[in-house]
Amino acid sequence: MEAAQNDSNNLTPEVIKKLIESAHEAKKKSHSPYSNFRVGAAILTEEGKTIRGCNVENASYTLGLCAERVAIFKAVSDGYTNFKALAIACDVKDADLAPCGACRQIMHEFGGEYKVILSRTDFTYRTMTMKELLPMGFGQQDLKRPRMNYNNNN
Ligand code: THU
Repeated sequence: MEAAQNDSNNLTPEVIKKLIESAHEAKKKSHSPYSNFRVGAAILTEEGKTIRGCNVENASYTLGLCAERVAIFKAVSDGYTNFKALAIACDVKDADLAPCGACRQIMHEFGGEYKVILSRTDFTYRTMTMKELLPMGFGQQDLKRPRMNYNNNN
């Protein structure tokens, strides 16, 4: 049992394939009547759990949320903050979907080491690290850096 769990934690081609399938399944739940642009995301946590998300749009357009952030917020609110990989799926033909800047920053919050899998409709994929997607991302450490004293007049 434990061995099976460990196996599923290794990013073998089989594990990646399953995660991509999950992202494409998540995409089917997309609520995107305004853009008609479906996106799905699937996170593999260090514990071996898969958590899915899809983009959720709103009649008040700016309130919609991307699939990546929905998946991350679901994971974190369920107590999972250590990610092994995050796969993304959309319907764009013959190209990788690169996550938007806001999602990259949210993804960065949970470590620079995990793999981001940009999948295509034929389930082929390209793998990138968080650091490649967002070099010099703003993080918790930046808030701890020494700062100048200031008052409201300068
Ligand atoms: N979208 C995502 O869900 N993820 C991305 O990486 C890029 C864009 C969504 C937001 C919106 O619902 C639709 O795709 C069109 O921008």
